[in-house]
Amino acid sequence: MQISKLPRVRLGEFPTPLQPLTNLSHALGGPRLFIKRDDLSGLGLGGNKLRKLEFALADAVERGATSVLTVGGVQSNHTRLTTAAANRLGLKTYLLLRGEKPDRATGNLLIDEILGAREIRFVPGLVQVTREKVSPAIDDAVRTWLEALQRQGETPYYIPNGCSAFHGAVGYAGCVLEIVEQLRALQDAPDAIVAACGTSSTQTGLIVGSALHTHNEVAVHGISVAGSSDDLEHRIAGQLREAWDTLGLAPPIPEDRILVHDVYVGEGYGRPTDAMREAVLLLARTEGIVLDPVYTGKAMAGLIDLVRSGHFGKRDAVVFLHTGGAPGLFAAEHLTLFQP
Ligand SMILES: Cc1ncc(COP(=O)(O)O)c(C=O)c1O
Repeated sequence: MQISKLPRVRLGEFPTPLQPLTNLSHALGGPRLFIKRDDLSGLGLGGNKLRKLEFALADAVERGATSVLTVGGVQSNHTRLTTAAANRLGLKTYLLLRGEKPDRATGNLLIDEILGAREIRFVPGLVQVTREKVSPAIDDAVRTWLEALQRQGETPYYIPNGCSAFHGAVGYAGCVLEIVEQLRALQDAPDAIVAACGTSSTQTGLIVGSALHTHNEVAVHGISVAGSSDDLEHRIAGQLREAWDTLGLAPPIPEDRILVHDVYVGEGYGRPTDAMREAVLLLARTEGIVLDPVYTGKAMAGLIDLVRSGHFGKRDAVVFLHTGGAPGLFAAEHLTLFQP
């Protein structure tokens, strides 16, 4: 099955720009760094989820959905973009957010409200996380809500946190093709791509794209923002098998192409680190590009450390994927992060 023949709705402004990070490369003493601006994908303030949602929501439309139900954290970029995309397609959105309802909506939650998500429910308390499922408590709440919506005559379409692995895989395979074509126009080619890894389907897609469009020659480095390398590499291996089987492709991708670095997480998901602060400030002050504190700030901290530790050759072309998330800077808990 060809990815270009899969049902797809147009939501984002693609191809997103690929820009050289000349000042940052100079500040770090090489390699040749580029940034792929998926934060500029447009709709709903942009971000990586739009590439996945183009496939997920095409499936929803094909199935006659009247609404979309999805899950995420209180400061989820995914729920913001799902709500924006569903609005574009005339679908209602129901959001189930992990965490306490805050007194005041800030950051992404404020935008969820501006976009008019039909109903937002909160699941407070400790939510157990297992290797295969994001959260059993959330799964129960999702099932109950979907059944209730059906009883009300709705045809709800469920999108898991960060979109399904398959939709992430096909969405991000296309991003690699864009990078290859954009660098080819400069008579260049990518050696490595570095990106934040959360639910991991972005990375799965980048690996699929590297296999399809570069014969696995481009190394994809995922910088974990939450889980351990072992867990994420295991999850990505499963997602790759699923994508490969569904697309009917052969031969399988070698497992040594799955590279996740987990030493930049710090104390946990969303918890700031000194390296993240340094990375956000360095990119902003050398290139005028703003990252976020939860995903891209930590991913950039990883890239900077890999460069400083001599991981890349001086002439390598290394592409940093800006996956968006800047609204997280304006979340109540992050407002003082960068104050002197
Ligand atoms: C801004 C941003 N960057 C990166 C990621 C990670 O993407 P993925 O969940 O596909 O690993 C996410 C979502 O989780 C995100 O919101």
